[in-house]
Amino acid sequence: MPFNGQVLLYRMENIPPVLLASMVFMIFNGGGDFYMKIAIGSDHAAFPLKNNLVSHLRKKGYEEILDVGTDTDSLPCDYPDIALKVGELVAQRKADRGVLLCGTGVGMSIAANKMPGVYAAHCHDVETARMSRRHNNSNVLTMGARILSPETAVEILDAWLSTEFEGDRHSRRLSKIADFEQKICPSCCLSDKGKTVIFDHPLVQHKVSIIRDKNTSVKEFRELVQEIAGLMVYEITRNLPLVKIQVETPLALTDAYALEGKKLAIVPVLRAGLGMVDGILQLVPNAKVGHIGLYRDPETLMPVEYYCKLPGDISERDILILDPMLATGGSASAAISLVKARGGKKVSLVCIIAAPEGVSKVHGDHPDVDIFAAALDSHLNDHGYIVPGLGDAGDRLFGTK
Ligand code: PRP
Ligand code: URA
Repeated sequence: MPFNGQVLLYRMENIPPVLLASMVFMIFNGGGDFYMKIAIGSDHAAFPLKNNLVSHLRKKGYEEILDVGTDTDSLPCDYPDIALKVGELVAQRKADRGVLLCGTGVGMSIAANKMPGVYAAHCHDVETARMSRRHNNSNVLTMGARILSPETAVEILDAWLSTEFEGDRHSRRLSKIADFEQKICPSCCLSDKGKTVIFDHPLVQHKVSIIRDKNTSVKEFRELVQEIAGLMVYEITRNLPLVKIQVETPLALTDAYALEGKKLAIVPVLRAGLGMVDGILQLVPNAKVGHIGLYRDPETLMPVEYYCKLPGDISERDILILDPMLATGGSASAAISLVKARGGKKVSLVCIIAAPEGVSKVHGDHPDVDIFAAALDSHLNDHGYIVPGLGDAGDRLFGTK
């Protein structure tokens, strides 16, 4: 956030004139961050106020304003449709902040706050707006067009946009909300860093207990690994973006939804990651599959690469790297580096059993990568095996012991 009280060094001759004008404007108007992407929406009652605020923001120099509608005040619309659109943009980080307007602002705040990762503050005055930033790190502002004059709404918006979050004790309080969101919806949490999500679903836990058992047969082990991987990916893909399409049923033409754009790539780490592939392909049959061959040197525990073949369009896909075991994290971290080196951008790691050492290693080497696991175990033994773990996953899957 370059213009919020920080000292910035720019070479003046490199600054385009439009930007320079905006900078001067902002210096004399209390600052702000015009690189911020702002999503804005209103219902019909607040349509004129939305137009006012959009032109105010443009004049101030905010260049990226995503106006999600509504587009007229002569047709009624339903506020939740607009609130959820803006909420989704903010929760998915396609917008930095959101602004929602309706008659009172109340409906918008109720609807937007249903979206995990959205912290919508309903404000009638400048002080509340400032405090909602300082203490609550609100990322959506809701206001009422029937309650506020256009001038007051502008003052509130400016104060809200230019106030920073104070952190400290407030971060601790906000983490309590984020923890709860993660508990009720593991895959839809907003976080600055890669998160670790442990799946506590009873079906997953039950199946993990069976694969831990040393008496479980190779056949049953293999089947259960597929089932666990499928259940995990069902939850992980909860937030894949959708587009509206039209479908002709035998009775009528109707709006429906389809996954947007290029979809998933799954990348098993050989050998054991292969055991997770079919369970995922049953749910996402169009996912492309890459392969990474790595084995862990039994003496040094360091990963040794022997194969890598990834889909050509890997940079456009959400990538799930699959490996049932995250022990020292050496193999997973190397696999993630290989994928990134070939253009992979949105990478997550899906494992069944993780050790704390592996989680730290992956988050340390790749802070942007989410880790999804079915269990977080106690520790590693002297040979780098997870305790209690399930033994050697490759051997148990392929019967090679
Ligand atoms: C296992 C497992 C991981 C790795 C985890 O593979 O499938 O890839 O160990 O250990 P780390 O986190 O300490 O790197 P292994 O090297 O046994 O190869 P395999 O799958 O071919 O049996
Ligand atoms: N690899 C495995 O298969 N199991 C472990 O416990 C550690 C590494």
